[in-house]
Amino acid sequence: MQIVLRIGGSVVASPLNPELIGQYIHVLQTLKRQGHEIAVVVGGGSLARELIKVAKELKLDEADQDELAIAISRVIAQLFLKKLGRLCGRSVVTTIEGASEWLRKRKIVMMGGLKPGMTTDAVAAMVAERVKADLLVKGTDQEGIYNKDPRSHRDAIKLDCLKFEDLQSVLAENQHKAGLHQILDPEAIRILKRRRIRVVVVNGFKPKNVLAAVRGERVGTLVS
Ligand code: UTP
Repeated sequence: MQIVLRIGGSVVASPLNPELIGQYIHVLQTLKRQGHEIAVVVGGGSLARELIKVAKELKLDEADQDELAIAISRVIAQLFLKKLGRLCGRSVVTTIEGASEWLRKRKIVMMGGLKPGMTTDAVAAMVAERVKADLLVKGTDQEGIYNKDPRSHRDAIKLDCLKFEDLQSVLAENQHKAGLHQILDPEAIRILKRRRIRVVVVNGFKPKNVLAAVRGERVGTLVS
């Protein structure tokens, strides 16, 4: 299968978690061994948000704030890449074309952000669109998608599966803001919906959930 794995910076990088990163490396090795091709997109997490905050205090504009966050996400992607060694290309991929090309050659590619004004969710969706991915898995800090924000509503209910059409009403549309934390951003949803690319949102603190999602087991929330 062609898989895009979007790992939340809120999961592996808030703060940077070497043990969890090690578990993801193991998951990637397993997926590659099983014959899958995987494009991994990681976000910048709290480190990126800290930089955005400092950039704001220095009165840098949104594009500059975003560029700093992108740089951080690429450093985190590089950490994965170094640990993957021979299994992966030699550098973090910084274009959609590069992702498609390297995926064919190396079977695993590592990416962070691409350009200001978007999130790594949108990057993952764009890659998924380009490589005609069978599945996009997003590892988040929640068990999946809820009918309302579980951080502010104790009675929020986790949804096992839903249609793209319903997703848009569940996740309120939001304007892009540097550092915004969402379970899946609206731009990504638009692309994935248009291409009908299956998405599974899982708890990213349990990397084995990714393997379960690829096997088609019931885990997290399936959007189709
Ligand atoms: P994300 O919000 O996508 O990363 O990017 P994350 O840390 O993985 O977030 P969670 O875990 O899903 O919450 C962080 C910020 O980096 C900038 C944006 O400001 C974004 O909010 N960014 C990222 C870009 O400007 N362009 C990109 O292509 C990616």
